[in-house]
Amino acid sequence: MKKRIILIGFRAVGKTTIGKKLAAALNYGFMDSDEVVTENAGKSVSEIVDEGGWERFRSYEREALKKMAKSEKCVIATGGGAVMHEEVWGLLKKDSFTVWLHGDIDTIRERIAGDPVSLHQRPSLNGNGVDDLEQVLETRAPIYDKLSDFKVDTGKLDIHEVVFKILDMLEKGEN
Ligand code: S3P
Repeated sequence: MKKRIILIGFRAVGKTTIGKKLAAALNYGFMDSDEVVTENAGKSVSEIVDEGGWERFRSYEREALKKMAKSEKCVIATGGGAVMHEEVWGLLKKDSFTVWLHGDIDTIRERIAGDPVSLHQRPSLNGNGVDDLEQVLETRAPIYDKLSDFKVDTGKLDIHEVVFKILDMLEKGEN
């Protein structure tokens, strides 16, 4: 079995929730890049961005990804923009299986608006409060596609169905 299962995908698509269930099913550890960032910084994503801009957050995020690249038998949930750190993905993907959790933009928009976590974890990406999510997804989708070994269209699937799809793919990939 691979050393790491890495979940990538847009904001609020469910990476952390699905990652925790997948880790339990695999008897793997679980790490979330935003959690590593906030632990290292001693403050929330929003506070980091408020104080030092996105540049400050991305610096913390890059260090978190480098740390997680050393993990073994671990499911890693990455922040939606983690794929932009091109320099760390060679290391991160070694002996790993990367899954793109894809969701439609309207569902994602609803989840961002409805998730209390968004208040401290998902400040506006362009700083003016209203992000052009279509444009951000259009920019990132080719990178998600390039980095992923497998794509799950979360669509109308529930958490357990997504986890099962990933487990099934992992099993097929090993045989
Ligand atoms: C971000 C996504 C967030 C968090 C930060 C930046 C992004 O994580 O890392 O707000 O650039 O899309 P989630 O993908 O868990 O929402």
